[in-house]
Amino acid sequence: MQIRAAVLEEFGKPLVVQDVGLEGPKAGEVLVRVQACGVCHTDMYTASGVDPTGYAPTVLGHEGAGIVEAIGEGVTSLRPGDHVVTLFSPQCRECIHCTSGKTNICLAIREQQGLGYLPDGTTRLHRGEERIRHFMGTSTFAEATVMPEIALAKVPSEAELDILCTLACGATTGIGAALYIAKVEPGSTVVVFGAGLVGLGAVAGAKLAGAGRIVIVDPSEDRRREALGLGATDELAGGDSVVEEILEMTDGFGSDYTFEATGLVAVMRQAVEAARMGWGQCVIAGVAGRGETLDIIPRYLITGRRVAGASFGGARGRDNVPELAQLYLDGKLPLEKFISHHLPLEQVNDAFDLMHHQDGIRTVLTF
Ligand code: CU
Ligand code: ZN
Repeated sequence: MQIRAAVLEEFGKPLVVQDVGLEGPKAGEVLVRVQACGVCHTDMYTASGVDPTGYAPTVLGHEGAGIVEAIGEGVTSLRPGDHVVTLFSPQCRECIHCTSGKTNICLAIREQQGLGYLPDGTTRLHRGEERIRHFMGTSTFAEATVMPEIALAKVPSEAELDILCTLACGATTGIGAALYIAKVEPGSTVVVFGAGLVGLGAVAGAKLAGAGRIVIVDPSEDRRREALGLGATDELAGGDSVVEEILEMTDGFGSDYTFEATGLVAVMRQAVEAARMGWGQCVIAGVAGRGETLDIIPRYLITGRRVAGASFGGARGRDNVPELAQLYLDGKLPLEKFISHHLPLEQVNDAFDLMHHQDGIRTVLTF
């Protein structure tokens, strides 16, 4: 079939929306009609060419949601008509990581996915004779995509897909950091650095978990206001004195939980130092530039602070994304508040501009 898709042709240049060929699903694969896709920083980062592991041409996009159109041989957990959220972080439920109960980092298809191929080492995307590689195993800046069954979460069909798509990356990364990594307890104090989608997700997750106090740290007043609307109780602008300010707010001890969602290593250090002596836990959810390092004074660890990192918020996609979608339907997780703009696929480059100018939280492309 022919589909419209946004192709990264050349690093540092705008994406080119065009017709590309998509072949049907092979064994273990599923053809998904994409209905909506969020535009995430990682897409823009890859398009910029700064990421040394990037490749072109490829169809970008990894925050997708859609409807199953066809299934390949051996697919048992999905049927045509099912609503799904795409998972760049799959869950095979069989590898030693999936069965360990200790991590969400599935090993099943990692290698081929990183190279831009489906698990059998080939691609379903092409343009004439030329093969086009997949991106993050998802390639959802497109009217349709073919993905492995283990990389799709089945979600309730009553929920709007243009809202659930945020669960494919940003929202789950933040919410999961609070729920699955920190396991925030009722009454605890939480500080969130950065009020982009991941940080706002951490605020919403902490609120859902019953945190007593949630401090949002962000230089933008507009973004802090979004966080206050999601349950943050205090706000700080950040800067060099922010650790002292947090210590003052917490009787000199620091916060039970801190979340870093900016990707800046200097802010990560502040998040470690603002965690409480004795048991404070700092969760790093932001993605730093390749090669950057985080400075931690060992005394902070000796005196009981813990540092954890999480990819995709520690969420096991096929188990947890449907649960989060249900919480949205139950009115407990206001995912709709994360979305600031809707644009058609043809305007994907405008979505990058909005992100570049920090205008709004999330732009969702619709098809
Ligand atoms: Cu993302
Ligand atoms: Zn696995």
